[in-house]
Amino acid sequence: MSRPDRARTDQGPSVPGAGDMMTALRKTEPGPGLSLVRVPAPECGPWDVKVRVLRTGICGTDLHIMAWDSSAESMCDAVPFTPGHEFYGEVVAVGAEVCDVQIGDRVSGEGHIVCGTCRNCRAGRRHMCIRTRSVGVQRDGAFAQYVVIPQVNVWVHEPEAGAELISPELGALFDPLGNAVHTTLKFPIVGEDVLITGAGPIGQMAAAVARHAGARYIAVTDVAPHRLEMAAECGADAVLDVSDTRIRRAQAELGMREGFDVGLEISGQASALQEMIENMNHGGRIALLGLPTRSFEIDWTAVVTRMLTLQGIYGREMYETWNAMSAMLTSSSTLRARVARTVTDVIPAADYARGFEIARTGSGGKVLLDWSGEI
Ligand SMILES: NC(=O)c1ccc[n+]([C@@H]2O[C@H](COP(=O)([O-])OP(=O)(O)OC[C@H]3O[C@@H](n4cnc5c(N)ncnc54)[C@H](O)[C@@H]3O)[C@@H](O)[C@H]2O)c1
Ligand SMILES: [Zn+2]
Ligand SMILES: [Zn+2]
Repeated sequence: MSRPDRARTDQGPSVPGAGDMMTALRKTEPGPGLSLVRVPAPECGPWDVKVRVLRTGICGTDLHIMAWDSSAESMCDAVPFTPGHEFYGEVVAVGAEVCDVQIGDRVSGEGHIVCGTCRNCRAGRRHMCIRTRSVGVQRDGAFAQYVVIPQVNVWVHEPEAGAELISPELGALFDPLGNAVHTTLKFPIVGEDVLITGAGPIGQMAAAVARHAGARYIAVTDVAPHRLEMAAECGADAVLDVSDTRIRRAQAELGMREGFDVGLEISGQASALQEMIENMNHGGRIALLGLPTRSFEIDWTAVVTRMLTLQGIYGREMYETWNAMSAMLTSSSTLRARVARTVTDVIPAADYARGFEIARTGSGGKVLLDWSGEI
């Protein structure tokens, strides 16, 4: 919808702060580690938006970049750069051609920048763009006081649509929550029995979304008891530590006779997918978000003879997933509370090393860095 009240003429092309310096957490050279350094703040091009970052989430990608392992080396284009892609902030400048985003808007950011011209982009399937580039991986990201992204990548939390209900913490979760929503709603789940493997932040959020969206039974697996407790708080009916309990037992406890209808694989673990396959009803559908770190075998005979569907999931649908997230969060205080509780630590950016350590060890849930204070 156009926003005539926020037309470009109201605000004029403006790039305040051009030439300013800022603090950013940067990969300054190939190799392990990140450094908090002073660098020039990024400036807006004509179709860009400049955001003062308030919170940035730490995710698995950032841990790879911090460690500078082989996956980081193959993902990232050039060093130095600023990582970070899960963020919330306030718009402080817009380019001359930007009409729909206004200075002062509170926003989250879609980190996948698509080409706009490949077959899928032109068909409106932007999450399947063949030339996706990622904020905080192939261009400067949001572990910084300011980040610049194209206006189409900005998700404005509209005041008239309940923006005040979206805290900075919730706003910074829109990227991983979008992964959870995209995965959970890929197949119909109303009245269905849902198995989620992996109770990390995204698996927990998937449990909350599945509950909100009308699943019957939700079973969640992990190997970390504190994460299973968090999944139970998100609304799961059964949580299972698969280091010593089999999923079959959850079926029996829940009174299920035939197997799960929908599987959400959110751990990236070979054994999790295999055990999921063994516990699906015939005709069951599996959405796979977890990224395996190696190739592995599964029981393809079971996939074939039980007519299972396996569907990979990448990112978020642009921007239907975003619309669903905003609508569900602003209309349900229960969902808001469940999603918000996946954040266990909000840490001043200057103390980033502690935040990365909590995220690396998995001792908490989602870890956010706070960029709003003195750094
Ligand atoms: N496809 C995408 O676009 C996309 C986007 C973001 C994240 N991801 C992937 O989604 C997954 C979840 O992300 P997250 O941030 O919640 O990560 P996470 O690492 O915090 O969560 C993974 C969880 O799986 C658990 N686990 C380990 N072994 C298990 C097993 N055998 N069975 C069940 N659970 C087991 C871990 O203890 C952990 O809690 C990761 O694999 C991540 O790489 C994919
Ligand atoms: Zn992420
Ligand atoms: Zn494209």
